[in-house]
Amino acid sequence: MPHRSAHVTETRSGARRVVSALPLVSRVGSRLCLVLSVAVAWTCAGAAAQAPTTTWSGVYSAEQAAEGEGLFLDVCAGCHQPDMSGGEDAPPLAGAPFVTKWDGHALADLFQLMRRSMPKGDEGSLSPAEYAQLIAHVLHRNGFPAGPTALPDSLDAMKRIRIAARQPGQ
Ligand code: HEC
Repeated sequence: MPHRSAHVTETRSGARRVVSALPLVSRVGSRLCLVLSVAVAWTCAGAAAQAPTTTWSGVYSAEQAAEGEGLFLDVCAGCHQPDMSGGEDAPPLAGAPFVTKWDGHALADLFQLMRRSMPKGDEGSLSPAEYAQLIAHVLHRNGFPAGPTALPDSLDAMKRIRIAARQPGQ
């Protein structure tokens, strides 16, 4: 059976090749681990030295907030009022009581609440990008500063941003 013996030979030589490559793999692997652990330690040290990101850090762009304002007037103002002062139909979204209520929460909590329950009666009808625009408008209305980049419409990114009633260090 010539076919079968040829197959066995091929497998054997293949196995030899794998075995001889192993020491190289483990050498490269341990070097890679060293490089990675140094990189991780460096990144962690950098993050600890930085101030935490809050709503005072300029986490949305002015353009994004302006887009959110148009959307808010169309979809939300009927209940929350154009100036967000609220009324019989809905609570205020601007002013000290609102900011105090949300103080210390991650922006992700506000994002989740909006996506799940607003606009009331048509819940979840907007895109993540539109909810992010609305949050930008709410932040702007509450006196938080705009920054160079738009607020990302991702839950993970918003988990890293805290709503802070007072500017840290003030
Ligand atoms: C039909 C009326 C109505 C519309 C339209 C509406 N809301 Fe609301 N909203 C409410 C009511 C009522 C509440 C109070 C909580 C509840 O009943 O779910 C609320 C609560 C909220 C809250 C939580 C406030 C807090 O401090 O807990 C946010 C944020 C919010 N709305 C944002 C929006 C946004 C953004 C839109 C537009 C996309 C919108 N709402 C559209 C009626 C409305």
